[in-house]
Amino acid sequence: NKTLTIAPSILSADFLDLRKELQKCVDAGIKIIHYDVMDFDFVPNLTFGSKILKDITNQFDLNIDIHFMIKVKTLNFSDFFNEFIKCKPLIMTMHIESMETEQIEIFIELCKKNKIKPSLAISPNTPVEEVNPYLKKIENILVMSVHPGFGGQAFLESCINKIEYLKKIRKEKNLDYTIEVDGGINETTCKIVSKAGADIVVAGSYLFESSNFEISLEKLND
Ligand code: DX5
Ligand code: ZN
Repeated sequence: NKTLTIAPSILSADFLDLRKELQKCVDAGIKIIHYDVMDFDFVPNLTFGSKILKDITNQFDLNIDIHFMIKVKTLNFSDFFNEFIKCKPLIMTMHIESMETEQIEIFIELCKKNKIKPSLAISPNTPVEEVNPYLKKIENILVMSVHPGFGGQAFLESCINKIEYLKKIRKEKNLDYTIEVDGGINETTCKIVSKAGADIVVAGSYLFESSNFEISLEKLND
């Protein structure tokens, strides 16, 4: 499947060998990596901030897709993104459940101002229609196929209708966002979401915990 973009989630990489893990991605032809930022508030887990991303982007010529799983508490939250923006990510995703309408608007404007693709994520229990007011303004939608927080969880089929809906609406309304799917992706579920309309597929444990990264990647691209 030549039109599908695979974004490895480094959440499942070996952090003590991160350089080697990233080189594995580059050698296998990967163009974009998925970077999960968690705050132990919006989700029951804590990951990394901007420093690791800065080190990565200083040494690797990879596009970056940042998936923020963080709770926003004020209207003056833009400064939080400064160090991430300096890393020139291609896409920045915030969860629609983590922000008020006004904050969503601020986030979208902040991305546009910095030439980053604004993206909204929806968790498994969030109806897909909630993104409707933003479809004209955002450039990517992340449909979660697991509850956000951890790698290695089982794929939830509830994402399939959402992907099909987003694909249908995009055509009907002549919109041009990409549809990204994250969680529980393996060679079987990858085919399901790709058929439903996914443009970008995130894969963490399936790629980094396999015995052969390249062969596993080929199976996703099959
Ligand atoms: C989960 C993260 C995912 C995670 C996916 O909250 O958003 O990006 O790394 O991991 P797998 O592919 O193992 O489900
Ligand atoms: Zn993610």
